[in-house]
Amino acid sequence: MNKAEESAGLSTGDYLAGWQRGKAEWCVDANRWKSTLMKEMASRSVSEQKNSALSASAGTTSLAAEGEMTRTVRVIGLVMAGLVAGALLAGLWKASTGVQPGTAALVGGLFLTEVILAGVLILLGSIVEGYGYGLSLGTRWPYTRNIVVLMVRGDPEAAHRVVATLVGLIALALAILAPGSATLSGLALVVITALFGIGTLHVLAGRVPAFVHGTHGLLAYGVFLSYLTGLAFPGIPFWSYLGAMAALHPLLLAVFLGGMTTGQRGFGQPIGAFYRPQRLAHWTVAAHVLAALSVVATLGWLMPAYPLAFYLAVAQVAVGFLLFHAVNLKPKNPGIIVAFHQCMALLITTAIILSLPR
Ligand code: HEM
Repeated sequence: MNKAEESAGLSTGDYLAGWQRGKAEWCVDANRWKSTLMKEMASRSVSEQKNSALSASAGTTSLAAEGEMTRTVRVIGLVMAGLVAGALLAGLWKASTGVQPGTAALVGGLFLTEVILAGVLILLGSIVEGYGYGLSLGTRWPYTRNIVVLMVRGDPEAAHRVVATLVGLIALALAILAPGSATLSGLALVVITALFGIGTLHVLAGRVPAFVHGTHGLLAYGVFLSYLTGLAFPGIPFWSYLGAMAALHPLLLAVFLGGMTTGQRGFGQPIGAFYRPQRLAHWTVAAHVLAALSVVATLGWLMPAYPLAFYLAVAQVAVGFLLFHAVNLKPKNPGIIVAFHQCMALLITTAIILSLPR
């Protein structure tokens, strides 16, 4: 016992008892503090989750604001929904009324549905471009949590991804039910197109070169073509057919350079009027116009093999120049003319495939 303890009248036993009590109290306090901290951390992680969800939806909302939800966009959304329903009904009709039995009938129906959906998917892509929805879901891919809700509200980018999923599932079903050149090529092209789809988001965000956008567009036409040729000429090896179809080659080049034009101008940027190309965006559109003229020249040269495709291509050149002006006037949302230009490109492609050379 030391002097201070002695003067305080404490014995060694008192000292030890006090020390034990202090330790016990400290433990109780520490446990209380620990449980408070745990509760605090738990509530913080919930609020962080809420915050991240909010910021995700805030990101979605603020980026979605880039594309204006007008009555036109809603009406276009309804037309697209009608086309998707039409594609499913047409397939059902083909499967149930065809002469082939069982699996063959189902495959025939699925082919028809897939061709129409692949076309609708390309059109949806152009509506995304035309109304400034390219980054409405940010660079997240392939889905956001509320993608179906966004689609029902009319976001074309959400619809583009949901329809792409449907196209992928049908491609898989066709590859399993009827493995062959068209179905296996179609499935492979769907997968690669989807991967390049991630790239297009980064092109629009300015991180990846326009080449990726052009390739995505070209591959999307590859998907459309594989199922269209599979439907029109069953059993024909797809790649040999594509190689032999000279009329399609300049068209596919124009499609690729069209996608490059979109990617090169950047998200919401004009190309700018020019006499002599100065910037890369000018050179890209100039190359696209040259490719377009070579489409007209090739189809004209091959006359009278593809009359409808030729006249459509001539009209498309005029539409292209109107689009060029629209893009410069309203770079954020040039509007329905983008979809019209794309629709014409799809019609030219279809007219080439379906007109049997005489
Ligand atoms: C046979 C002729 C043509 C075909 C097949 C064709 C096809 C295409 C395609 C597939 C696209 C991509 C659209 C998209 O990304 O959604 C595109 C874009 C474009 N095309 Fe053409 N095109 C043709 C002629 C022309 C012509 C003559 C011009 C005149 C300048 C033109 C101007 C444009 C422009 C400015 C874009 C970019 C649109 C945007 O950034 O939103 N096209 N074209």
